[in-house]
Amino acid sequence: MKAILLAGGSGSRLFPLTQVASKQLQPVYDKPMIYYPITVLIAAGIREILIISTPHDLPRFRQLLRDGSQWGVSFSFLEQARPNGIAEALLIGREFIGDSNFVLMLGDNIFSGGDDFSRAVGAFEKGASIFAYHVKDPSRYGVVEFDKSGNALSIEEKPARPKSPYAVPGVYIYDNGAVDIAGSIRPSARGELEITEVNLEYMRRGELQVRRLSRGFAWLDAGTSSALHEASVYVENIETRQGIKIGCPEEAAFIRGFLSTERFQALLETMPACEYRDYLAGVARELSGTDQPG
Ligand code: TTP
Repeated sequence: MKAILLAGGSGSRLFPLTQVASKQLQPVYDKPMIYYPITVLIAAGIREILIISTPHDLPRFRQLLRDGSQWGVSFSFLEQARPNGIAEALLIGREFIGDSNFVLMLGDNIFSGGDDFSRAVGAFEKGASIFAYHVKDPSRYGVVEFDKSGNALSIEEKPARPKSPYAVPGVYIYDNGAVDIAGSIRPSARGELEITEVNLEYMRRGELQVRRLSRGFAWLDAGTSSALHEASVYVENIETRQGIKIGCPEEAAFIRGFLSTERFQALLETMPACEYRDYLAGVARELSGTDQPG
């Protein structure tokens, strides 16, 4: 399985923060936002990741993430000239996708807790899988209605009268057919290639599976100033309370076996003395069994 991580857009709701750095490079507590979705992908065992961003911001992502080999993964980078819609990522990534199944993830979505996503990636065979997350105010989101077996019945964008309390987070799993579907849809009234159109086509074919995210799972998006602040507070609370980091790609890569102990140690030596390095050093001790409780 491959993944496309979409990190473009205009970030207008975060102005003036986004004048010099894109939304997905903003800090969420102690790391750049894009570390969070990358960690989720690595934890699911995905090693080949295409990052798509604006011509202005792509150089910054390259600088931050490099070719990925330091984390035992492979990053490639492509530009989206204008924010023409989320589904355009499938066209930009056509060659990268080749004949693979793939995940499309939005770079401003933060997930934490549970292995729901990893299991969905492991179980995926064909068609499309989207996720359903129980929210208090569904009319702010894309809302999905589904039957007991997880077949999608309807998807509606920001409905005044939602048919279910389940919002659709910004992560989708597709088979190869999604690229042709994206190529066949027309821009919406707001001039974008809408990912919902791709999902609706899978639904019409009876191939759109909905996986409900479990109660313990957290999904945050960080598109507004208050949501960004809330996401930081959430991460800080969990990390301070538990002494475990969320959204740490190095740790996920080590746990997944993408990095040997030696390569992990070598990576730590490239980091300045800081809390982040101390944390990773603790992870290394714990996982290599030199820090077992008495
Ligand atoms: P949005 O939050 O809908 O849009 P935005 O990031 O441009 O922000 P704003 O509404 O404040 O102007 O986008 C969701 C995610 O998808 C976000 O990570 C940016 C990304 N995106 C692209 O990369 N390209 C696009 O064409 C669009 C529409 C979104």
